[in-house]
Amino acid sequence: MALVLGIESSCDETAAALVTTDRQILAQRIASQDEAHAPYGGVVPEIAARAHAERLAPMIEAVMADAGKDFSDLDAIAATAGPGLIGGVMVGLVSAKALAMAAGKPLLAINHLEGHALSPRLADPALEFPYALLLVSGGHCQILMVEGVGQYRRLATTIDDALGEAFDKTAKILGLGYPGGPAVEKLALEGDPAAVPLPRPLVGSGEPHFSFAGLKSAVLRAKESEQHADADIAASFQQAAVDCLVDRLAIALGKSDLPKALVVAGGVAANQRIRSELEKFAAERSMRFVAPPMALCTDNAAMIGWAGCERLHMGQDDPLDFRARPRWPLDPKAEPVRGAGYKA
Ligand code: KG4
Ligand code: ZN
Repeated sequence: MALVLGIESSCDETAAALVTTDRQILAQRIASQDEAHAPYGGVVPEIAARAHAERLAPMIEAVMADAGKDFSDLDAIAATAGPGLIGGVMVGLVSAKALAMAAGKPLLAINHLEGHALSPRLADPALEFPYALLLVSGGHCQILMVEGVGQYRRLATTIDDALGEAFDKTAKILGLGYPGGPAVEKLALEGDPAAVPLPRPLVGSGEPHFSFAGLKSAVLRAKESEQHADADIAASFQQAAVDCLVDRLAIALGKSDLPKALVVAGGVAANQRIRSELEKFAAERSMRFVAPPMALCTDNAAMIGWAGCERLHMGQDDPLDFRARPRWPLDPKAEPVRGAGYKA
């Protein structure tokens, strides 16, 4: 059994966790910066980096104390090294390098997306490779075939916005504040999902990619028309999003050679309506549906510690001069998609 310290600081959550290769989370702490960013309706990179710099070192100390562990007890130190807001990523990665150097332990520079992609295996020991993964977060919207640790085949990505971004923008349009996903989901419970006619971008197209920019604009027009209740707009938006996910997944996975499991990860995977529709989708295809617990879906350090455990188990580590990467696709061989920008 090996013990890994995980550090996450790529967006607006500062987090540290102690995770073991036998799937125990010995301690974890997370500090959200929602309040600091709320006045701006989104994450301000400079504010985020400063907050990570203030909070991370005391948080690591606290996590070690919570578990009654010393740095000499660690087998490796894992930190998110990208993709993400570079200032924050550098705070986490440099802290991990300093600890690795001082304690004489291996460094694991983790791709944040790999953290999301492997997190379901932390919660579910029975989940074996390969599995299909729908990764839906604030910065990413992808369908991947997870074939092994470090082996990811991208089947689809977004050509414009990520789904979490669309939830956040819808929340902003409806005056619900930031972060928007949970607020839109809550309001949608009171609305009629069929009340507002909204587009389902790319639905029906033979390529499995996503697009949410047009949906977001349609939400804005619906709000500005003053003809609909906010709850109906929220419910109709969520329904359109669900319809897009299900249609795109069906195209990406095809009809034959389906993997045994469909897994959803990333912050948007916390959405109950999306979970239940995906569960139905999987059941219709005799696939097992796996959704990690909520706390493992949104950004957290346990998933980074776990990705570290998986890579340590494979005998991997990284050099102390590993560079923070603002962009870092999980599947470098995937063909660029027109318009996909940094979300590729
Ligand atoms: O994975 P995550 O914590 O951070 C990124 O790596 O992006 O995802 C955050 C995103 C935000 O856009 C947030 O609005 C969305 O996940 N989100 C949700 C829900 N909870 C969080 N979206 C829809 N429904 C939710 N319940
Ligand atoms: Zn994330």
